[in-house]
Amino acid sequence: MNRRRRIYEGKAKILYEGPEPGTLIQHFKDDATAFNNEKHEVVDGKGVLNNRISEYIFNNLNNMGIPTHFIRRLNMREQLIRQVEIIPIEVVVRNVAAGSLCKRLGLEEGTQLPRSIIEFYYKNDELGDPLVSEEHITAFGWAAPPELDDIMALAIRINDFLSGLFMSVGIRLVDFKIELGRQIEGDMMRIVLADEISPDSCRLWDTTTNDKMDKDRFRQNMGGMVEAYQEVARRLGILIDNDRPGQSGPVLVK
Ligand SMILES: Nc1ncnc2c1ncn2[C@@H]1O[C@H](COP(=O)(O)OP(=O)(O)OP(=O)(O)O)[C@@H](O)[C@H]1O
Ligand SMILES: [Mg+2]
Repeated sequence: MNRRRRIYEGKAKILYEGPEPGTLIQHFKDDATAFNNEKHEVVDGKGVLNNRISEYIFNNLNNMGIPTHFIRRLNMREQLIRQVEIIPIEVVVRNVAAGSLCKRLGLEEGTQLPRSIIEFYYKNDELGDPLVSEEHITAFGWAAPPELDDIMALAIRINDFLSGLFMSVGIRLVDFKIELGRQIEGDMMRIVLADEISPDSCRLWDTTTNDKMDKDRFRQNMGGMVEAYQEVARRLGILIDNDRPGQSGPVLVK
């Protein structure tokens, strides 16, 4: 089983060679990290939940014609994906002020933004993923101008879909981060959504209580991280109440 070739091990996931050329297996670990790996813990059950939540979101996006790398979920921790050439930019879409935006601009957390804002961060751990502008991206050739147009259009469509999805289950989508890649098909190349969308990469607040249901629980040492992720999954109709992904022992595979 573990004879597969490991292509990359990141902080939260492992990529293995897939069964066919051009495919990979994305394995979700239980590791939680924050502040560029300064804080690190193993959180039992997180990987299973992120695999399920990301599967649900990517399936919906595929069905509405947003191109993604996702093919199908293989098991509790793994999904089959298309290998892409990752664009070294993290795209953040913000609807409500939180996190680094509050620090940078002196805004109060929870301030509704006048409109959704897209930000770009250069994926570089040594530099701590610095904020960059469109000018940097095109000048340094990280993405070409037409690619950047596609990326922004995709980011807005994804924000619209996710905002509605979460709103319908009593969750406010404060912000989220996505990664995109180039998928090469013959002599065609297109931009597709890659990586994951999960409570690790979104800020999700309960609409009525403002309770945090995302990785900020870990960043801010609030506890109850897995329970919050489980509640997100439950509201999306992914997990039944007595599913206990953090427990060992037999698990019903659906
Ligand atoms: N379809 C794909 N093809 C190739 N690489 C991918 C694909 N989807 C995601 N990746 C990459 O796989 C890695 C996933 O691992 P993980 O999220 O643990 O990384 P990380 O520790 O956050 O580090 P990084 O800074 O590289 O994102 C990321 O580097 C991500 O860019
Ligand atoms: Mg990552």
